[in-house]
Amino acid sequence: MKLRIDSFELNDATPVADRERCFALLRDADPSRANVDDYLARGELYVSRSIPGGDTNAPGPGGDDSKWDSVSDSDSDIVGLYVILETRPRTIEIMNVAVLPELQGQGIGKDLVRHAIERARTKGAKSIEIGTGNSSVGQLALYQKMGFRILGIDFDYFVRFYEEPLYENGIQVRDMIRLAQDL
Ligand SMILES: CC(C)(COP(=O)(O)OP(=O)(O)OC[C@H]1O[C@@H](n2cnc3c(N)ncnc32)[C@H](O)[C@@H]1OP(=O)(O)O)[C@@H](O)C(=O)NCCC(=O)NCCS
Repeated sequence: MKLRIDSFELNDATPVADRERCFALLRDADPSRANVDDYLARGELYVSRSIPGGDTNAPGPGGDDSKWDSVSDSDSDIVGLYVILETRPRTIEIMNVAVLPELQGQGIGKDLVRHAIERARTKGAKSIEIGTGNSSVGQLALYQKMGFRILGIDFDYFVRFYEEPLYENGIQVRDMIRLAQDL
């Protein structure tokens, strides 16, 4: 089973299963539906799909054949996504990135971030940014492994903009860690 990443439209013609999958993924990365609706309306959505009947011998994103062993035929639909938005001239931000929980840790997130970086470069951006919570230990590791460096901290961002207190890894999600890399 092989995966591919393509631009994707969420609209009235979108099949219900794809629509529900997209919103479940978007919500996993960002519990604010208002935020999600806002950047979906202004940004670009890309989805990673399994290709039914794809080349089973094709290597995974890191060249490791074993990566796709857990992708069964029943998973032959959207397995991950990201949203990018031009927030300032020549600056693109990854507003959301998510992978199905059962397929996390297999390189799909890295592929999505790599694809987003390439898209931003192709669109002429000079910088790409991403923000994550102070509690998001794995995400902070992933983004730094993908070349991002910490740009600053938006203190109490999640306290100010989210109605309910959020917790992750036993830590209250309070501050937004902002990361960026030059393109
Ligand atoms: C964040 C997310 C998209 C990552 O996707 P993924 O497919 O699990 O990520 P990958 O497997 O491609 O890569 C994860 C990388 O981070 C590394 N990593 C994760 N936790 C780590 C830790 N605690 N310490 C060091 N490295 C860590 C992994 O080792 C891996 O790097 P490696 O390939 O060099 O070993 C996914 O976990 C997800 O959907 N989470 C829920 C939604 C979310 O939080 N989105 C981001 C909002 S800011």
